[in-house]
Amino acid sequence: DACIPWPIAIDGPAASGKSSLGMALARRFGYLFLDTGLMYRAVTLAALEAGVPPEDAAAGEFARSLDIRAEAGAETRIFVGGRDVTGRLREPEVEHHVSAYSALPSVRAAMVAAQRAIAAQGPSILAGRDIGTVVLPDAPVKLFLEASPEARAARRSRQAHEWGMAQEAAEARRDIEQRDRLDSSRAASPLRPAADAVVIDTTDLTLEEVIRFALELLGCD
Ligand code: DC
Repeated sequence: DACIPWPIAIDGPAASGKSSLGMALARRFGYLFLDTGLMYRAVTLAALEAGVPPEDAAAGEFARSLDIRAEAGAETRIFVGGRDVTGRLREPEVEHHVSAYSALPSVRAAMVAAQRAIAAQGPSILAGRDIGTVVLPDAPVKLFLEASPEARAARRSRQAHEWGMAQEAAEARRDIEQRDRLDSSRAASPLRPAADAVVIDTTDLTLEEVIRFALELLGCD
């Protein structure tokens, strides 16, 4: 089925369902799926390990020097220096510091360049915060997912259990709300829908319903 134009940009706050939708569409159409949040998480993990502070000059130079490779398939895997770090990117340490590192313009510049290179490889779906506004402003399809903080905290808490990192919904909600605040208020590429994005509120929708809505929008089924 080649009816879906690409690249597809999916943006939205934490745990709004971007990756679930992106992976489902990627599987269905054989497209690449790149979860760009994982790239910012990988920089954060490496910077914390190396003791590099979240300051623009130092972290930017570090991010540029980092051998970070994103393998976009039906899922996204991230390698740093040849080591697959994907399984570590949801750790609380990373979760708590990723907004600080991803707010730095120099870090963003390095990641955006890498993301555009991946998107140019072929039919692709990118999920993040600034895909429709900055990374791929000409994307023919832009979706912006939203959901209530309660719904997102409940989803994240369920996911955390699957990832082997138990987290109560109340704690998940605090983390998510803090990240949303930081991601939306930063000066560089803040989280916001592109003017031409279709906004989908997924609070009361199942994943299947979100997928169906997206397919209808795309004119495919
Ligand atoms: O999607 P996520 O929750 O895994 O993203 C982790 C953090 O990375 C998020 O809090 C903000 C940052 N991020 C970003 O600034 N730009 C993107 N395109 C994707 C993520």
